[in-house]
Amino acid sequence: MSFSYLVPMLLLHCFMAGSATAAVRNLTTDQSALLAFKAHVSDPRGVLADNWSISYPVCSWIGISCGARRHRITTFNLSHMSLGGTVPPHIGNLSFLMYLDISENNFHGYLPNELGQLRRLKFLSFAYNYLTGSFPSWIGVFSRLQVLSLRNNSFTGPIPNSLFNLSSLVRLDSRFNSISGNIPSKIGNLTKLVHLNFADNNLRGEIPNEIGNLKNLADLVLALNNLIGPIPTTIFNISTIIIINLVGNQLSGHLPSTMGHSFPNIQFLLLWANRLTGTIPNSITNASKLIGLDLNSNSLSGQIPNTFGNLRHLSTLNIRANYLTTETSSNGEWSFLSSLTNCNKLRALSLGSNPLNSILPPLIGNFSASLQHFYAHECKLKGSIPKEIGNLRGLIALSLFTNDLNGTIPTTVGRLQQLQSLVLDTNNLQGYIPYNICHLKRLSNLQLQRNNLNGPIPTCLSSLISLRQLHLGSNQLTSSIPSSFWSLEYILRIDLSSNSLSGSLPSDIQNLKVLIYLNLSRNQLSGNIPITIGGLKDLITLSLARNRFQDNIPDSFGSSTSLEYLDLSNNNLSGEIPKSFEILSHLKRLNVSHNRLEGKIPTNGPFRNFLAQSFLWNYALCGPPRLQVPPCKEDDTKGSKKAAPIFLKYECQNPPQEDLFALATWRRTSYLDIQQATDGFNECNLLGAGSFGSVYKGTLFDGTNVAIKVFNLQLERAFRSFESECEVLRNVRHRNLIKIFSSCCNLDFKALVLEFMPNGSLEKWLYSHNYFLDMLERLNIMIDVGLALEYLHHSHSTPVVHCNLKPNNILLDKNMTARVSDFGISKLLGEDDDSVTQTMTMATIGYMAPEYASDGIISPKCDVYSYGVLLMETFTRKKPTDEMFTGEMSLKHWIKLSLPRGLTEVVDASLVREVQPSYAKMDCLLRIMHLALGCCMDSPEQRMCMTDVVVKLQKIKQTFLVSG
Ligand SMILES: *[C@@H]1O[C@H](CO)[C@@H](O)[C@H](O)[C@H]1NC(C)=O
Ligand SMILES: *[C@@H]1O[C@H](CO)[C@@H](O)[C@H](O)[C@H]1NC(C)=O
Ligand SMILES: *[C@@H]1O[C@H](CO)[C@@H](O)[C@H](O)[C@H]1NC(C)=O
Ligand SMILES: *[C@@H]1O[C@H](CO)[C@@H](O)[C@H](O)[C@H]1NC(C)=O
Repeated sequence: MSFSYLVPMLLLHCFMAGSATAAVRNLTTDQSALLAFKAHVSDPRGVLADNWSISYPVCSWIGISCGARRHRITTFNLSHMSLGGTVPPHIGNLSFLMYLDISENNFHGYLPNELGQLRRLKFLSFAYNYLTGSFPSWIGVFSRLQVLSLRNNSFTGPIPNSLFNLSSLVRLDSRFNSISGNIPSKIGNLTKLVHLNFADNNLRGEIPNEIGNLKNLADLVLALNNLIGPIPTTIFNISTIIIINLVGNQLSGHLPSTMGHSFPNIQFLLLWANRLTGTIPNSITNASKLIGLDLNSNSLSGQIPNTFGNLRHLSTLNIRANYLTTETSSNGEWSFLSSLTNCNKLRALSLGSNPLNSILPPLIGNFSASLQHFYAHECKLKGSIPKEIGNLRGLIALSLFTNDLNGTIPTTVGRLQQLQSLVLDTNNLQGYIPYNICHLKRLSNLQLQRNNLNGPIPTCLSSLISLRQLHLGSNQLTSSIPSSFWSLEYILRIDLSSNSLSGSLPSDIQNLKVLIYLNLSRNQLSGNIPITIGGLKDLITLSLARNRFQDNIPDSFGSSTSLEYLDLSNNNLSGEIPKSFEILSHLKRLNVSHNRLEGKIPTNGPFRNFLAQSFLWNYALCGPPRLQVPPCKEDDTKGSKKAAPIFLKYECQNPPQEDLFALATWRRTSYLDIQQATDGFNECNLLGAGSFGSVYKGTLFDGTNVAIKVFNLQLERAFRSFESECEVLRNVRHRNLIKIFSSCCNLDFKALVLEFMPNGSLEKWLYSHNYFLDMLERLNIMIDVGLALEYLHHSHSTPVVHCNLKPNNILLDKNMTARVSDFGISKLLGEDDDSVTQTMTMATIGYMAPEYASDGIISPKCDVYSYGVLLMETFTRKKPTDEMFTGEMSLKHWIKLSLPRGLTEVVDASLVREVQPSYAKMDCLLRIMHLALGCCMDSPEQRMCMTDVVVKLQKIKQTFLVSG
């Protein structure tokens, strides 16, 4: 092909393109583009409503400014205006635009390709929206672009090649997206880059050496990806660099020995949570502007450099959790420490979990008052705590736990007036607890447990008015608990267990109004348990075990309604177990064994779950045989007809795990039990029927209401359904999943005994008369459902896919907490089948993801799709199967169309009855629908994952609560 032939073709092409744009575009066409934009987006705050009006000159519209010479729009800045909908293509017509910023709005969906026409752009930001789709590749033509921010969206896919044409780029920020693939070596061509941020994405592979070509780089932030391999040495030659943040990858290899030599400007070097090995190069101490050095949680070894003193600006040094050692000079000082004391701006020093293996030198007192945090736990420290520690007047937190420290706690700690946390547990400290500790008016956390401390608890401790946590357990403390102690009214946790404390508990214990944890076990406390203990409404854990408490267990325990763990074992308690315990609905573990209790063991509430161990070795307790106590007299007369013992055989199937609560209640129930519980499968007890069989309401012999799901074994599908449901429920346990009590599995009869949900299903609440859920209730239910799915998808080595999410399968307990039920067609995705399984099982039309409905392909993303549909349904009160949805029009499509107009015609009218619904409410609904659409993307890869969905929905709720 000859040269002369080529030239005219090119000219012709240029001519045509040029004349086309020149003829059409001027300020009038810019104005039309803006008006089209306005018509397309949702604008719940009405920012554009009046302002963007043809009564005013377009160049004065909010967010708009024009160039002086050509009089065309050059700036389009609508950041932070609560705009929503998809990004309209019309912006692409603003051909003179240089600055485009739509950050911090609620835009969702894909970016239109028309944006690729904005060739004059210098600044482009989409940050903080809900945008999806791949990293835009049309940016490749923006040869003047200096700033590109995609931060905090849901962009996916690899970094496009066209990005590397942007030779003017100065700032590239793509933090917090789902960008995948490698970092191409062409990144080195973006030589003007000053800020490069790809943190919080899914990047893999090695960091290319070419990154070292970026000779103007100031920030390099690639934290929280899956990068592997060594850190390219070329990075350490970028003399302009100020911040390197590669935290939380899997980077390995050594740090180059010369690393500090060409780092004149570095201020923050953050490499923690990687797999680095080798030593910390001494040369690092030449990087004289260093402010923060964090190398924690790697596998670094060797000696800690003893020249840190050169780093006069150093504020944080964190080398925790490595294999570092220290050289000890002849006078027992750590040489690195003496050098470090020259860093008089040092605020935080963390050496913990390194085998330092030496004494803590008195030199520690030479740090300047700037030191606020000193951590040297798990360092095999020996000897005593030097009294010079009292010189560290600025100290806020001191942690020396789990060492071999001996001697007494120096009285000089009383000088640390700023101290908030003093953690010296698990050492060999001796002597009294010094009363000087009582001077620490800001102390909130005092942990001295597991030492050899003796003497009394200092009376003055009551003056520590900031104290929230006090752990003195496993020492040799004696005498009684000072009476003033019970005036610590803001304390949350107290552990005085395993000491030799004596005396009794005063009724003043009720002053500790917010107490949640009290462990006084293994002492010599005596007397009655004060009645006032019932006033501790927030108490979750109480152990008084192994003391000498006597007399009755107070009835008032019934008002400590938060109790989950209660241990009163090994005392001299007598009388009956109060009936009031039955109200303690959160009680998970009870131990009253080894006392002198008698009478009937309560049967209701939490007692349904307790096992014989809770009651062993008492005087004369009676109750049901499963508790291995004799039957009660009155039971014999009253209950004989109803419940002949022969039918009450519970074969306790003990779970393989230790956890007493996890599966202990997963027991077997006989056919006769079930027949009796359902009154002979009486139709009055029928709760519902489905393709698998029927669900009955039942009452077990002990009064528990349950739901009994009976499978119709005539149907092959029902049989598999039972197996699948058993398999799943055996493996899962979550607050938002239906609980299983037992199963009945005979050859010709299969049933599951499930928790009874008094409030029925979401279906009922959405569609029955006289039922109504407000905004917050619907949000809470959907957050509950989201949490259940997140758990199913992400908490097991084998993800569980529910496959059949719909309002009928969302049940509500008496507090309206949602529980996901019906695992009949769930799938446990094995690791070998790459989390996608072919299946022929059919779920419910309308909620099924397209790839599931058409090809039977199952992955957690199917549930995400159904969840999206459920979200739309819950807030529109419109079923995806509604007859209005035919042909092209689906629930999803209907909502999409309504988004630009602010959703008013689609949301459930009973949610927005007011004439002028609040901005907060409409904004909340908009964001929910954006989220739902993000869940319902056609391609499974583009759907969000449940973890992100839940986070977003929780954020939406938060915003609603704050602004509503
Ligand atoms: C823009 O161009 C159109 C014709 O293409 C013309 O009618 C209009 O007056 C022009 N507007 C301005 C502001 O020049
Ligand atoms: C990128 O840089 C390499 C040399 O580092 C060069 O060969 C190549 O042409 C450059 N690519 C572009 C698109 O500038
Ligand atoms: C404390 O430990 C050091 C070193 O382990 C030992 O030499 C010293 O005798 C101990 N002191 C006391 C009081 O036990
Ligand atoms: C249920 O609600 C009651 C009354 O509001 C409350 O005391 C109880 O703690 C709640 N239970 C659960 C499981 O949330």
